[in-house]
Amino acid sequence: MESSERPQRHLLTIESLAQKELDALIRRACELADGARPEKISAAVANLFFEPSTRTRVSFELAAARLGMTMVSIELDRSSSTKGESLEDTAATLAAMGIDGLVLRHPETGRPQRLAREVSPRLHLLNGGDGTGEHPSQALLDAATLVASGLDLGAATIAIVGDIRHSRVARSGLQLLSRLSVGELRIAGPAELLPEVVPVPGVIVCHSLDEALENADVVMMLRVQRERMDAAGWPDQAAYHGQWGLVESRLARAAPGCRVMHPGPINRGMEIAAAVADGPRSLILDQVRMGVFMRMAIFEWMFED
Ligand code: NCD
Repeated sequence: MESSERPQRHLLTIESLAQKELDALIRRACELADGARPEKISAAVANLFFEPSTRTRVSFELAAARLGMTMVSIELDRSSSTKGESLEDTAATLAAMGIDGLVLRHPETGRPQRLAREVSPRLHLLNGGDGTGEHPSQALLDAATLVASGLDLGAATIAIVGDIRHSRVARSGLQLLSRLSVGELRIAGPAELLPEVVPVPGVIVCHSLDEALENADVVMMLRVQRERMDAAGWPDQAAYHGQWGLVESRLARAAPGCRVMHPGPINRGMEIAAAVADGPRSLILDQVRMGVFMRMAIFEWMFED
């Protein structure tokens, strides 16, 4: 099919995906990770990142390459946005050159949704993380990592710990895990880093790391996002590590074989000890690896005929 005839398909939030799409994306990423042959896709996409990124940006690039797509990553400090061009004009310019999809990372919450209302109907938008909003491809790759690890989601207790308030990974993750009917979902963190409103009903709020870890099958640690906070210098690294840092001895409270996750980038010695991040329970690099397969599955879904 000519790219101009494809129906417009965005991936902006977890909510916008139908249950069968969620299930199919997770299944497909796991198949690709198991060696299934990827489709060949004739489409051109651009990475447009207004915030730093290593794994998200590179995994979209690698995913596109493995599908035979054209991918350009735009370096914003060298692009016309530094001359005051609006995001809408940048998107229209790229679409006019034949770009079919844009992966957008932006510090403003809701910016991809706002752009989606303005872009040409032949441009597909993918949210690569918006402010403290959503990060749907990360949530999907995390769920696929757990499925591929053999976890029975329906019977599992999953705890997300750390800076929940500023985390788009937590926001998308909680929504997705709840739609996948995970047994029990917990969040925990210092009061200052808990959200005012729990994003998903039924989530248990814990007020200590030990409480969150009790018999948990999965613990996902989050980075403290200093760049989104007003109070300079808070929290102190050593104090945070003492209270909220995941160290080997505290993991004893969790279920045997508890899986440890972290979306990265990691602050070793702050939210997680190096020995745990590199230890046998850690799925951190499995998440990174699955990131490429999930982004391939997303591109296949987005550009399917
Ligand atoms: C996260 C992000 O940027 O939202 N990282 C990622 O995409 N893997 C989490 C973070 O910045 O801490």
